[in-house]
Amino acid sequence: MVLSGGTSGIGRIAATEVAAQGATVAVIGRDQTRGETLVAEATALDGDIQFHQADLATQATVRSLAGELLDTYDRIDTLVHNAGLSSRLRTETEDGVELTFAVNHLAPYLLTHELLDRLRSSAPARVVVTASDIHHRATFEFNDLQFTSGYDSLQAYARSKLANIAFTLELADRLEDTEITANCFHPGFVPSTNLFRDAPLWTRVMVRAAAIIPGIGTTQQEGAQRLCKLVTAPKFKERTGTYVTGEGITSPTTEASNPENRKRLWEISADLVDIDPDWP
Ligand SMILES: NC(=O)c1ccc[n+]([C@@H]2O[C@H](COP(=O)([O-])OP(=O)(O)OC[C@H]3O[C@@H](n4cnc5c(N)ncnc54)[C@H](OP(=O)(O)O)[C@@H]3O)[C@@H](O)[C@H]2O)c1
Repeated sequence: MVLSGGTSGIGRIAATEVAAQGATVAVIGRDQTRGETLVAEATALDGDIQFHQADLATQATVRSLAGELLDTYDRIDTLVHNAGLSSRLRTETEDGVELTFAVNHLAPYLLTHELLDRLRSSAPARVVVTASDIHHRATFEFNDLQFTSGYDSLQAYARSKLANIAFTLELADRLEDTEITANCFHPGFVPSTNLFRDAPLWTRVMVRAAAIIPGIGTTQQEGAQRLCKLVTAPKFKERTGTYVTGEGITSPTTEASNPENRKRLWEISADLVDIDPDWP
């Protein structure tokens, strides 16, 4: 299994759990020390976690990461896009893309493209994307997808999670005749992770308070369980194009499922990462 965002939060717990079940887990993260600590902990428990250091903000790094993964693993049967961030200020990556959109949406889009042939040859295979119910607050606004004006960190984050769902549904449709499924999920509101470390002060205060008040939100363990379910449950070897929440398979907003929106996002994304939109 290849899993991004496995050095912290729900991804870290999920990586450890899946490794404990006997799988080799390739974890992608930015921080070498956090990665090495995770590998050492897994090794002590006889789990096989390999760490691949990469900042998913830049497309060149995503491409060289894909090359490294293809060189290292003959088989990739599960690809989990779980890395995510929320950025207080609007910044652009070296590719000139708004950071939240680049890391949360474009990196999964490009990495899936780069690894698709290996998923195909390893099928049955799964692509799993960590989305969020916060997408209910978002619209695409295709004339200013990357908030060149009126940037708001929570809105930018919500739009990137909307993009996660639209991408997953479109991918599932395009892979209909293959043995690769694509599903996404909402882990719950998990206030104890590091997700909002760069959020505005007021958001950080609210999230920290929620993390210490018993009964508010979901634990990291529960969020990780939802991820593990999509990765391991036999059902999701067959079911594809679903959005899963605490209530089970749920309909996302029509903004996410609308075929025109999905196609438009797909084509814009292809243009931004400079690939032919006519894939897979
Ligand atoms: N927490 C919630 O309430 C909540 C709710 C709904 C959805 N989610 C989603 O759940 C996923 C996991 O988030 P979390 O709550 O577990 O937060 P987290 O503890 O902050 O974990 C985020 C992970 O993403 C990685 N990451 C962030 N930016 C990256 C980049 N530029 N390149 C490579 N890796 C990067 C982080 O790596 P580093 O160790 O290098 O920082 C970390 O491993 C995210 O997709 C998030 O949107 C969370």
